Amino acid sequence: MDIFEKCRKFTRAREVMAAGYYPYFQPIESSSDTEVWVGGERKIMIGSNNYLGLTHHPCIIEAAEAALKRYGSGCTGSRFLNGNMDLHEQLEERLARYLGTEAALVFSTGYQTNLGAISTLVGRNDKVYLDKLDHASIVDAARLSYGEVVRFNHGDLDMLRLKLNADRDSGRNGGRMVVVDGVFSMEGDIVDLPELASICEEYEAAVVVDDAHSIGYLGPTGAGTAEYYDMRDRVDLTIGTFSKSFASIGGFVGGPETVIHYLKHHARSLIFSASMPPSAVATVLAALDVIEREPERRERLWQITYRMMEGFRNLGFEIGPTETPIIPIMSGSVERTFKFWKETFDQGLFTNPVMPPAVPENSCSLRTSYIATHTDDQLDYVLDVFGKVGKKLGVI
Ligand SMILES: Cc1ncc(COP(=O)(O)O)c(C=O)c1O
Repeated sequence: MDIFEKCRKFTRAREVMAAGYYPYFQPIESSSDTEVWVGGERKIMIGSNNYLGLTHHPCIIEAAEAALKRYGSGCTGSRFLNGNMDLHEQLEERLARYLGTEAALVFSTGYQTNLGAISTLVGRNDKVYLDKLDHASIVDAARLSYGEVVRFNHGDLDMLRLKLNADRDSGRNGGRMVVVDGVFSMEGDIVDLPELASICEEYEAAVVVDDAHSIGYLGPTGAGTAEYYDMRDRVDLTIGTFSKSFASIGGFVGGPETVIHYLKHHARSLIFSASMPPSAVATVLAALDVIEREPERRERLWQITYRMMEGFRNLGFEIGPTETPIIPIMSGSVERTFKFWKETFDQGLFTNPVMPPAVPENSCSLRTSYIATHTDDQLDYVLDVFGKVGKKLGVI
């Protein structure tokens, strides 16, 4: 059997391209925070993860430029060897303070952080428990570990308890880790961390929260889910990314110093991959300054969030259990979702269609997400377009 046979047989994407509905890999020609240009046309960006609108902040761009000049364009190696700059260490100290953890470790992406942290810590006799809607990088990390992977239905903490109980009764004596998204990336709901932590305490399981979609804006200082619930001392590890609110690229894990020290010397995605480029590290350090200095960005983001939730619901859209700036607009079938995406795109909105296998066949959506710097006029326009297209396609 030819190993490439599957590639030649893969025609689905080409069919969608030929029909003119292909929504992926849209080449953005330029960007000005809340607007992007694609094919020479301006689109309002409601498909980014740039929650605080920091990608074009002048202080951040200045910091990145200064780092580029001082350290060069890349580190050309891993943190472990030649790619460790003083900037990486400054960022780790700063993050540990921000998260309220003993220590922190910075990786080159959030994906690599999950791979490194989870697969390194979950060993042969251990079990790792995942919510079924956890991000793909958590699932891949668990698979890469030598431990056993157990999944529970989304948000079903009774099911988690039953599974932990069965494990305890079995007399197995390996470790346990539960990993959840703080804010679920497609649905926008926040994990019930108080209940989850109580269960984990009862069954001696470590609590790991991936705050990719919450860091920067959730909680009084934006430090994420544990801060939001005021229970930082009940979370063992906080994982996150710099590719969303922090307007850059990279990832981090915060936790006890002994765990961070261990990861530093064992996590393969840290040791065998080049480090975050200096300009990216400087971007994140500057983003932390702005997050501290400009709390009004968080306030505006929440104001926008509630306004858009109300706006979509008043129009008759189904938006699921979201509690955050991630607002999915339920659109039903794959075919209708492609049309919904295309019509809204042609009218100047950039959204993200969510399709199988990410969701079941008739549960597609357009994922919309908001930026603290969206203007009221832009938001009115978004609701207007959604209202018209939603009616035309029978979504509402
Ligand atoms: C929950 C979650 N974890 C991790 C990641 C990966 O982050 P990165 O883009 O830094 O690789 C994402 C990105 O979408 C995410 O949503």
